[in-house]
Amino acid sequence: MNIVLMGLPGAGKGTQAEKIVEDFNVIHISTGDMFRQAMADETEVGLKAKGFMDKGELVPDDVTEAIVEERLAKDDVQKSGYMLDGFPRTIEQANALQTIAKNVNKPIDGVILIDVKPEALVERLSGRYICSNCGATYHKIYNPTKVEGTCDVCGKHDFYQRDDDKPETVKNRLKVNIEKNTPIIDFYSKLNLLHKINGEQDIDVVYKEVKEVLQNL
Ligand code: AP5
Ligand code: ZN
Repeated sequence: MNIVLMGLPGAGKGTQAEKIVEDFNVIHISTGDMFRQAMADETEVGLKAKGFMDKGELVPDDVTEAIVEERLAKDDVQKSGYMLDGFPRTIEQANALQTIAKNVNKPIDGVILIDVKPEALVERLSGRYICSNCGATYHKIYNPTKVEGTCDVCGKHDFYQRDDDKPETVKNRLKVNIEKNTPIIDFYSKLNLLHKINGEQDIDVVYKEVKEVLQNL
């Protein structure tokens, strides 16, 4: 299965991706996670991405397309297929993905759009916290850990907030992504690949609908 998860920052892509990999044999590829890892490792890509990410801007298309192209060519993706999270984010990236997918012989089976109104997203991002050990994502109101201060997944006690979840950066991230999003939605709807899910429901209800779509691809 080869799929794309779309949605504005904070719509719940990462949250749904965690659930999808439990039920489906697919490789989760988040360009945001790849850039954060590259920044931590201080690689050339990480250094290029940092200035853009800190301001909530998009990393240039050529840099982003190159890391996706390299990742999709790997053996695990060849074997299990991909779930792209946060890519494509511009119409240029959507076009590039058509070529990359063709080159690796893995055409997209479906695109899931997790649809949430921008007004709800600032609160979601400012309340987000992440397990430092396993990366599981929580929200202080909507999705807290079951035992306070302990990760449900790995049992560790150390959490962090993302640097780009500060209110000023969040506003710019939303602005940048809203502008770029509509042409990509049109692009995939014309290709009959788009499945829109109401992301303003409980996490488990959203997942039930996502799962139904994926089972029928
Ligand atoms: P990236 O890491 O992809 O961030 P993003 O798209 O801004 O998305 P997020 O990870 O913030 O949100 P999400 O949708 O995964 O939400 P989550 O599930 O965590 O990108 C970061 C940066 O990298 C970009 O700004 C850019 O600079 C660069 N970049 C990445 N890809 C790029 C590309 N293709 N091109 C150029 N640059 C790129 O949920 C959010 C919170 O809400 C959580 O606390 C969660 O618990 C809660 N929540 C989730 N679902 C629900 C629900 N249904 N109800 C209530 N709360 C919920
Ligand atoms: Zn954990």
